[in-house]
Amino acid sequence: MKQTILVTGGTGFIGSHTTVELQQAGYNVVIVDNLSNSKIEVLDGIEKITGVRPAFENVDLRDKEATENVFKKYPAIEGIIHFAASKAVGESVEKPLLYYRNNIVSLINLLELMPQYGVKGIIFSSSCTVYGQPSPENLPVTEAAPIQKALSPYGNTKQINEEIIQDYIHSGAQIKSIILRYFNPIGAHPSAHIGELPNGVPMNLIPYVTQTAIGIRQQLKIFGNDYNTPDGTCIRDYIYVVDLAKAHVAAMGRVLDQETDPVEIFNIGTGTGVSTLEVVEGFERATGVKVNWTYAPRREGDIEKVWGNVDKANNVLGWKADTPLDDVLLSAWKWQEKLREDGVM
Ligand code: UD1
Repeated sequence: MKQTILVTGGTGFIGSHTTVELQQAGYNVVIVDNLSNSKIEVLDGIEKITGVRPAFENVDLRDKEATENVFKKYPAIEGIIHFAASKAVGESVEKPLLYYRNNIVSLINLLELMPQYGVKGIIFSSSCTVYGQPSPENLPVTEAAPIQKALSPYGNTKQINEEIIQDYIHSGAQIKSIILRYFNPIGAHPSAHIGELPNGVPMNLIPYVTQTAIGIRQQLKIFGNDYNTPDGTCIRDYIYVVDLAKAHVAAMGRVLDQETDPVEIFNIGTGTGVSTLEVVEGFERATGVKVNWTYAPRREGDIEKVWGNVDKANNVLGWKADTPLDDVLLSAWKWQEKLREDGVM
């Protein structure tokens, strides 16, 4: 058995898939989640896949005493993967203080407790949102591209948290960190035991596509067909959540077991830009299911095009996203069908 890892937000979309990959790589996982945007049944899904039910603590990381009790209860924790955060862009504009408190206080509490409890490394979930709209010469965007002013409080919490980690380590704190900047995570575990569970009307493309395909939503709107892209729709770098989860396993091994710089940053994507229209067409091809869609006006605040240069993750982390998009889209569909079967939606 390898080290014990604390996964915050471990019942969430990316957290649950990462827990599975960590367990399958031999790590012992303790999940902390306040279930504010996930369900306890996710633990059943994880257990079905790996045969091991991870330890679970229903704790709000804003509560420092409760958080400290987790480290007291599990003294073997050596590493943290910190997913727990609020992530709805629109809501963050309406409730900025909620976002600042949730996303920033939680990280500060963890960082303060790490040296006290001998926790050596933390992997932080950041986002390509820190790049804003990169200028054309910066596409695909590398880790060295300039950080641009955040367009929302949510995006700002990612930038601030990256700076907090760097400032803390530069001050001499005896911890290490790897910051992962994700592009657009999509799909579900091939077993369909875990996947994404959006709350209410989905904001993100893939859940909207699968919910339209299954008849929960009447029609998908493709926001904007007059962008400066080959087919006029926006371009993103869609990364399979299972590939993304594996990047965390690689990062954890690196941060705990290798001599490296105390803070490192990696883009985690496929390196390929795909348009919204290509996603919808790809979904229909991969599943054989038609999606009722129409063009609609641009969505405010949308980035026109962004995709990652992922050479650093490929070469230094020794990790590569290699699942074909059609398989990824099929996994999202299987998950949607499973939700229907189970009567969830
Ligand atoms: C969004 C967030 C980003 C966050 C990321 C997390 C915004 C503006 N950005 O990114 O900060 O880090 O989610 O996953 O919310 N689309 C449609 N119709 C839909 C939904 C989406 O055409 O019903 C298009 C969007 O215009 C976009 C693409 O699909 O071009 C992807 O959208 P989405 O899944 O919301 O991701 P992002 O906007 O990239």
